[in-house]
Amino acid sequence: MDSLEIKGGAPLHGEVEISGAKNAVLPILAATLLTRETCVLRRVPDLADVKTMCQILESLGAKTKIEGDTVTVRAEKVRDFVDYDLVRKMRGSLCVLGQLLARLKKATVSLPGGCLIGTRPVDLHRKAMEALGAKVNIENGYIIAKARKLVGGEMFLGGRAGPTVLGTANAMMAATLAEGITVIEHAACEPEVVDLGKFLNSIGAQIQGLGSPTLTITGVKELGGAEHEVIPDRIEAATYAIAGVATKGEVTLKGARPEHMKAVIEKLRESGVKVEQSKGKLTFKRGRGLHSVHITTLPHPGFPTDVQAQMMAFMTQTPGISIITERIFESRFTHVQELERLGAEISIEGPSAIVHGVQNLSGAELMASDLRASAALVIAGMVAKGTTRINRIYHLDRGYERMDAKLKKLGGKVRRVK
Ligand code: EPU
Repeated sequence: MDSLEIKGGAPLHGEVEISGAKNAVLPILAATLLTRETCVLRRVPDLADVKTMCQILESLGAKTKIEGDTVTVRAEKVRDFVDYDLVRKMRGSLCVLGQLLARLKKATVSLPGGCLIGTRPVDLHRKAMEALGAKVNIENGYIIAKARKLVGGEMFLGGRAGPTVLGTANAMMAATLAEGITVIEHAACEPEVVDLGKFLNSIGAQIQGLGSPTLTITGVKELGGAEHEVIPDRIEAATYAIAGVATKGEVTLKGARPEHMKAVIEKLRESGVKVEQSKGKLTFKRGRGLHSVHITTLPHPGFPTDVQAQMMAFMTQTPGISIITERIFESRFTHVQELERLGAEISIEGPSAIVHGVQNLSGAELMASDLRASAALVIAGMVAKGTTRINRIYHLDRGYERMDAKLKKLGGKVRRVK
């Protein structure tokens, strides 16, 4: 298993090209199962999760071809069964449920099981499929959905933490081929859900209201093929912006969409970071002084849970006490103990982490846990004095395209150790 060795203290400077969004491309790849025609996706990031999703599509009978950042999928025939071995690698695989049900009227998809960042219930996915007329059972670790036909319905997809991203994706995908009109209330508004919706409309679906909490979908008989370019990854963009300011450097993002990053930009500005926008590029650098900030993670357009850990690493470098409250996933604080090994002072009170700044961090050997927690450790390691070694970086490879190379290009002293 690879690890990442970081010699801390080097400020990051320069431009970084933002890759396609992992959380947009995964459901879009899954959506290609809705049609027999060929779909061509561009700006697909080279990630372990993308490879896993392609394996899932292949296991279901689709043909996939990866050439550079283009993935071509043709799913002339599909099967209705997704095995645990593939699903356990990636929770996102649950988003094949809606399409299989829509196309085959039955789907058997393994439940992904436990997850480090918190419980991951599927009640809203189930509710969505049932609202379209399916019978859903959970048996032997599998979610089994069956319907004679899917019929448009009304559904309210608000859960205990608000809307669900992949639940909305599943509902939207199943409804595209249902008979009649479906209305999804309390739908997720994340840019990735909008991108999926745009892809679906480009293959012939009729979805209105994308980006709002109410989606209206008029079912069609069949869908065709299309080419689609995936949106840039707002979480990757935020990670490099934060890494730049945490290391007292200046990082310019190429290809990021500021309109997808409003909450992150706003909080960075509040903490004293200067954000400049010119000619399609976004530059982040420290202003005269930094301040503590308080953050609560919320569904979009609120502060994203996927940037909480990275922001916490930065907060160790802002003076005073900062409080982060995690409202989406109840145990998404696995990075705290590892940050403490670098010398960070963080205490957890219920859903909140209280971060004391400014801290002099010093390098140590660390264990990556989940994807975004690993990104936080990389940022903290780049700030810390001396050498930090992060083990199990396959977590990073799941969601960050060539992170070590991108950091090196920015002047980071990082080395992948086989
Ligand atoms: N929830 C329910 N019932 C459900 C589904 C979800 O109560 O049936 C709850 C969850 O427990 C959580 C909240 O709803 O409290 C939000 O979960 P959501 O369903 O939106 O998460 P997801 O769709 O499984 C996606 C991303 C995550 C990201 C979340 C929140 C993908 C592949 N994954 O997960 O990304 O954190 O939305 O924005 O799109 C990551 O990239 O590191 C990552 C974990």
